[in-house]
Amino acid sequence: MSRTIAIVQREHRALAAVLYTFDHVLADIRAGKVTADIALFDAILSYVQDFPDRFHHPKEDDVLFPLVLKRAPEVKPVVEELQAQHHEGIRLTSQLKWKLDAWRADPEKGFAQFDAAAQKFIEWQRKHMAKEERTVIPAAREKLTAADWVAADASFADNDDPIFGANPKKLYDQLLSKIASLAPEPYGLAARHEPKKGEPEMAEHRREELVQLHWI
Ligand SMILES: [Fe+2]
Ligand SMILES: [Fe+2]
Repeated sequence: MSRTIAIVQREHRALAAVLYTFDHVLADIRAGKVTADIALFDAILSYVQDFPDRFHHPKEDDVLFPLVLKRAPEVKPVVEELQAQHHEGIRLTSQLKWKLDAWRADPEKGFAQFDAAAQKFIEWQRKHMAKEERTVIPAAREKLTAADWVAADASFADNDDPIFGANPKKLYDQLLSKIASLAPEPYGLAARHEPKKGEPEMAEHRREELVQLHWI
């Protein structure tokens, strides 16, 4: 397998793992099984916003898609749709961050709106990746020449290319570890705190702790 495809698919798997945690923790909060740790959602949103926009999509937009369009012009409508979705993703993740801030400001009522927007986003992001896996990647595998792969692989050779920022892979790996350490078991390593009767989804002690937390 080419290095290009291996990297794109590895990044899809990493993003899918974060979406899995996001989805299941939200479902448990909704079901009253666990209290929310807003620091976990801060870390998740940081990942689902920055990782695709700064690290993953540039490789698709600048390297993979142009080569696929050159060799398989029949997939142009799908590629254009995917490129438009990359822009749409920026809007959706910004909206999610506003809704998280609204929930932080209003722990009694803010969860439902954040939850609804998050569920929509999770489904949207999964569909986006599935479309790439089912159309662009098979077309690339079938149509790109050996020389195309050499050129693509060379562009992907250095994950720490300055175009993506200083040592971004390490930064995103640290963020993945942070998500795993904050997510309640069995999705992560943190202890589960069950809500007491009548307690809002976000417990008071978690909000107080937030003052101490910083982005990595
Ligand atoms: Fe994409
Ligand atoms: Fe992708």
